Amino acid sequence: MATNPQHCGYENSHATTANNILEFCSANCDAGEMATDETAAPAPPIPHKRRVRYAGKHPRRFEEKYKEQQPGRYAQTVAKVLASGKTPAGMHRPVMVAEILEALAPRPGEVAVDCTLGFAGHAQELLARIQPGGRLLGLDTDPIELPKAEARLRGLGFGADVFTARRTNFAGLPQALWAAEIKGADLLLADLGVSSMQLDDPGRGFSVKNEGPLDMRMNPHRGQPASVLLQSIRVEALQKLLAENADEPYAAVLAPALAGKLFATTTALATAVRAALPRLNKEDGADSIRRVFQSLRIEVNDEFSALETLLRHLPACLNPSGRAAVLTFHSGEDRRVKKSFAAGLREGIYEEVSGVLRPGTEERRANPRCAPAKLRWVRRAI
Ligand SMILES: C[S@@+](CC[C@H](N)C(=O)[O-])C[C@H]1O[C@@H](n2cnc3c(N)ncnc32)[C@H](O)[C@@H]1O
Repeated sequence: MATNPQHCGYENSHATTANNILEFCSANCDAGEMATDETAAPAPPIPHKRRVRYAGKHPRRFEEKYKEQQPGRYAQTVAKVLASGKTPAGMHRPVMVAEILEALAPRPGEVAVDCTLGFAGHAQELLARIQPGGRLLGLDTDPIELPKAEARLRGLGFGADVFTARRTNFAGLPQALWAAEIKGADLLLADLGVSSMQLDDPGRGFSVKNEGPLDMRMNPHRGQPASVLLQSIRVEALQKLLAENADEPYAAVLAPALAGKLFATTTALATAVRAALPRLNKEDGADSIRRVFQSLRIEVNDEFSALETLLRHLPACLNPSGRAAVLTFHSGEDRRVKKSFAAGLREGIYEEVSGVLRPGTEERRANPRCAPAKLRWVRRAI
């Protein structure tokens, strides 16, 4: 068994804390070093790199936060950022870990599926609890972040016998299980939406705050960027999309101001939203910008259709008494999960369905990004 829980510091960890995120990252750093040791050729000289310069005392831009992006080398910096309630650049803090572990009740020897691997924070906790003998299949549609998450878990000692990573959309869950020779999952997690790594990197085009290309694709090799979508969409279609994907109250005003226009960057779009709603105060204007970004992101990544497909396939992919938990971050997602779980209970497919669970006060204080999260879980009938 390649897993070494002792090395990973799992023994006393029940909820993910700032400390075990740090352990996670420094183990990853070790993995990188180990990989270098294994190569037969002598290591090439490290090219001299100028330190990133920034104005003022603290780095503000993503690329300036080079220390946060190297937690193995700058653990103190990362600890400080975590303690201040922020998410270090290049990292994602898993949400409602304790509640998810209680709902999924992972046991040694079980088969787990993480449909949204992200930074692998949840996967790390699940993997530790299904050993010995268990196996986790981790899916993610993001070709940029998936290899990093895989490397992190490998660095923690989870070998190919216990962990398989697969770049795929979770809408194709049955095929992914088949490809991994898994008949059914004992536990399954879907933590919807985007990761902090995607959100914080201006180059991915999700960020309202930092200038970047208006892209928003979780898989940049598939589909069209948000800029192309906006340039080609009709006013009526955009109005519908803003209302349905994010309950935007000013959809009728915003749609004619944005549809058919080219916004090459995230900031150009944010400025146009603000200009279209001149009477709104700063806070309400910022809410509309956030909702416009959310509705475009959902459309660009076809998120509702992927979720509906996953929910439809879920019963057939779970073993009898298998548990599934879904974390949602806005009402459009939660409505779909709630409806599907309730229907499954009525039809006798599920024997138990939870109500909605929310993050506790302490977690909301420590990680404000978790505030909108809603968790629901089900247990399949025998
Ligand atoms: C909120 S993050 C998950 C964070 C993860 N639970 C952790 O602990 O680090 C969501 C992830 O799901 C991925 N994702 C979103 N929709 C997906 C889909 N339909 N299929 C596969 N992956 C998806 C995103 O690329 C992102 O990496």
